[in-house]
Amino acid sequence: MEEIAPRAAPTGAVRDEPPAAWRDLREWIALVEQRGQLHRVAVEVDPLEELAAITFTRARDEKAPALLFEKFATNPLGARVLSNMLGNSKERFAMTLGLDPDLPVLALIDATRKLMKGRVPPVMVPADSAPVNDIVLTGDDIDLMQLPVPRFWPGDGGLYIGTGDVTFTKDPVTGRINVGCYRQMLHSKNRVGLYCSPGKDGRLDREAWWARGEACEVVAAYGVDPALFAASSIVFGRGESELDAVGALTGRPVELTRGVTGSLPIPARAEIVIEGVLRPGEFMEEGPLGEFTGYYGSPRSSQPVIEVTALHMRRNPILTAALMARYPSCEQGTWYAIARSARVLDDLDRVGLPGVRGVYTHPAAASGFGMIVISIEQKYAGHVAQALALCAQAPAAAYYTKWIIAVDDDVDPTDMNDVMWALSTRCNPADDLDILRKTWSTGLDPSQFPPEKRPYGSKVLIDACRQHAHLSKFPRSTMLRASMSARVAARWTELGFEGAPPSPGKLEEG
Ligand SMILES: Cc1cc2nc3c(=O)[nH]c(=O)nc-3n(C[C@H](O)[C@H](O)[C@H](O)COP(=O)(O)O)c2cc1C
Repeated sequence: MEEIAPRAAPTGAVRDEPPAAWRDLREWIALVEQRGQLHRVAVEVDPLEELAAITFTRARDEKAPALLFEKFATNPLGARVLSNMLGNSKERFAMTLGLDPDLPVLALIDATRKLMKGRVPPVMVPADSAPVNDIVLTGDDIDLMQLPVPRFWPGDGGLYIGTGDVTFTKDPVTGRINVGCYRQMLHSKNRVGLYCSPGKDGRLDREAWWARGEACEVVAAYGVDPALFAASSIVFGRGESELDAVGALTGRPVELTRGVTGSLPIPARAEIVIEGVLRPGEFMEEGPLGEFTGYYGSPRSSQPVIEVTALHMRRNPILTAALMARYPSCEQGTWYAIARSARVLDDLDRVGLPGVRGVYTHPAAASGFGMIVISIEQKYAGHVAQALALCAQAPAAAYYTKWIIAVDDDVDPTDMNDVMWALSTRCNPADDLDILRKTWSTGLDPSQFPPEKRPYGSKVLIDACRQHAHLSKFPRSTMLRASMSARVAARWTELGFEGAPPSPGKLEEG
């Protein structure tokens, strides 16, 4: 087998070339630990609610580290559980992509956009050199109950082995392998529920197999390089390969190897992988699960079940648990907002909207789904209204989003203090709000009754920009003179302050 060189560690600069010194979750954990971004929980913890309660509470602090739980009362496989892996940490997301962790969020969005445009196809490695094959079990030997699978919230319908998962399915016609992240409830030692929302690619693949009267093969990995996890939950087109996109994000091809019971490949360096099939018409009761909205989502319902045909594991495997919770304790945090913002910017680029300074889907708004702020340099009459309308219905933005806010280019869309200032001083609600109705939403948004209304939503377009018709007369805002700001920065240490001075925002010339 050709040896694949590990990536170099983040250098401190935005990367132009493939980086990074890790190939899988274990090596990534070593990297973040070295950088003070990992906390090991060495005392015994109960995977039933306690693990989630610790994660939720610790991650109320926006700067919380990733948490590696190492000890459980019953743990015959010596497994560990990693939570808050990327969560709200822009630094850990930057490290995962080999970017400078000190980059501000707007710059990270730009850098992520560039990386997401690349494609590096995966490679197949021999099964006997794949670490995931340390232990391979089939038939009656499979027992997923031996793992410390968490139950997150008091009202959850069961144990969830998959929330931080990466799941492969295949299109029966094109053979394209889809990579998604879908919640998976553990029913028994070899049965795992799979909840894919309508329209998701994993569900479309399953429906296509069932329409032919055939079982749908599934591979689910629990514990992979966080870049693969991130890519699995970013929407790519059905014509695109998420596996190729991960290769570009990480700067090296994803390593796959063949499975033992199915035709789908499996991630060669994953911690735990199941191979299995979804048989036509086989359902079991699944859910609810406490979701990214901060509520239990859809009620318990019949969902397809994976019949597990093979289990592959590394020794002392690390199961990843993605806590779904309200901000900032949700696994789908800042990194997801960065990735979603990058996709929205791509959409706006494609239609040619000029003057865009930045876009941000703040994670406090239900994991970045609830709100989008777009910052523009106003160039002509009606530019703001155009930006709001395009942003509201851009393919990567339209799902769920309720609050679309346009601000001027002196407002940093990632800085909620700035955004609230604009809302409070440049927006007159009687004149500056429009509403779109019957828009794309989800049953997970609990704000409407009766629940049947919920797949449709509404959106408010908020113009928080200085009025274009009165730009020249709009009161001058207080900004520091550039020379004075430079002087303060130069004297920062002399003034007795530590670290770098915070950004002063837009400056006046002179
Ligand atoms: C932690 C996490 C959990 C998720 N759980 C689900 C889920 O249970 N069902 C679902 O349909 N999507 C879920 N998603 C969103 C999908 O992963 C996302 O929409 C992804 O793009 C799906 O892949 P696809 O577009 O290839 O279908 C989750 C995302 C994350 C980050």
